[in-house]
Amino acid sequence: FQTCHYSSTSIFPRTISSLLHSPLSDERANETVTVAGWVRSVRRMKNVSFAHVSDGSTIHPLQAVLTKEQSENLSMGTSVKITGEWKESVGGKGQQSKELLAEKVEVLGKADPLTYPLQKKYQTPEFLRTLLHLRQRIPANTNLLHLRSNIISTLTAFFVEHSFIQCHTPIITSSDCEGAGEVFAIVPEKFFNTPKYLTVSGQLHLEALAAAVPRVWTLSPSFRAEKSGTTRHLSEFYMLEVEAAFIDTLDPLVALIEDMVKTIVRSISTSRVGKETLSTAGEDKAVQLEERWKGLLERPWSRITYTEAISRLGLAAEQKEVQFDIPAVWGAALQAEHERFLAQTVFNGPVFVTDYPKSLKPFYMLPSVSTVPTPGEGETVACFDLLVPAVGELIGGSLREYRYDELLTEMRRHGIAVGDGGEDEGSLRWYLELRKWGSTRHGGFGLGLDRLVCYLAGVENIREATAFPRWVGRCDC
Ligand code: 4AD
Repeated sequence: FQTCHYSSTSIFPRTISSLLHSPLSDERANETVTVAGWVRSVRRMKNVSFAHVSDGSTIHPLQAVLTKEQSENLSMGTSVKITGEWKESVGGKGQQSKELLAEKVEVLGKADPLTYPLQKKYQTPEFLRTLLHLRQRIPANTNLLHLRSNIISTLTAFFVEHSFIQCHTPIITSSDCEGAGEVFAIVPEKFFNTPKYLTVSGQLHLEALAAAVPRVWTLSPSFRAEKSGTTRHLSEFYMLEVEAAFIDTLDPLVALIEDMVKTIVRSISTSRVGKETLSTAGEDKAVQLEERWKGLLERPWSRITYTEAISRLGLAAEQKEVQFDIPAVWGAALQAEHERFLAQTVFNGPVFVTDYPKSLKPFYMLPSVSTVPTPGEGETVACFDLLVPAVGELIGGSLREYRYDELLTEMRRHGIAVGDGGEDEGSLRWYLELRKWGSTRHGGFGLGLDRLVCYLAGVENIREATAFPRWVGRCDC
């Protein structure tokens, strides 16, 4: 047998980030290196030209010093491979102390300056959304790819450390887990005998897995045919879902979430991706963002019941502290304006709102564990939404109904097929059966990854938080 030894730096071109940011950068002075990337700008002087080249490994471009001839075919967007000496910058101006003194410049792919749609000037997010295949070359969008990747690696390490197993739940499913009727049907319809849909949530399958391995998580695409084209809704988004068996209250879930998000924030704020997030945000926004990260880490997060939240919102409206378009009344869903007021004004940070009315929530939730006094003794369920400033709902979770008879009653009440009409295929009989053999108290939650990226990067519209957003009426690239 032959063993294959290789180092990524010897088979791929050296990343610009390793030259600009690595502690070894100084040791590499006067070394001959090869980099490959895309030209961001070219400045032509009398005898010499300067090209800024970016390879997406950092938002900062590398400066290459070229002869006039070497720069001839270069313009914004051109892909190039440059070999040269990594040297102390002669001018000493600019942000970088070193530059690449080009010996060999290879144009890999030209970019016609007359047709290349990206410009060095400011281009609006709306315009860039028409260029989904190119906008990742803009530093702020490049950074969002890194940030997302960093969050996922932190999550993976976090769950390993807490003995949660990463699992995969199916994309093609038989049921509408959330019961909101916002499913995309699979075509051709007859392929699986009964109608199938793109998953809206992996929760039900994750519950089955948690009935064998008590701590599981998944990060999977979710699909919702919601017609709301808001700044926080996508038709396809990534959801982190967690399910844990052998828990009696919401406390372990709430504690896990706080620890999880704080771990992510700690990782970002101490790494280069965090620095680059701040520098692409612009000066004013960077200050706010740093405060947001600090605030998330400093204080323990708040928690109130839905019933208390409704009283607080009612009081605020009564005392003219705020004016809502829709009044907050017990039994009605919290509107975005209510969520914003709670997270931004009342708590100025994340807040878990627990124990919502049963009528507002899906069939699988367990009745509230503690007795929370409610107006008219309205029934509530053991659930929570985590609200955060600017974004609103970031996470939804609950304890699950683990008793067979009670779950069967709820499923029937919601018109969910349970296989007692002989319709095993397509029914949720399997979900009910989990309560028949070795059922356990359990619970879990789902976090919208794209919303988390918005929150941590200060991105205002979720359509920027993912590379290829889909929303009502738009699935272009
Ligand atoms: O509150 P949701 O609908 O909860 C569930 O689907 C549960 N079954 C999850 C679970 O307990 N395993 O969605 C969870 C989160 C929301 O808080 C939100 O962050 C995100 O998913 N989300 C969306 N993100 C982007 N676009 C949409 N259309 C979203 N709908 C939900």
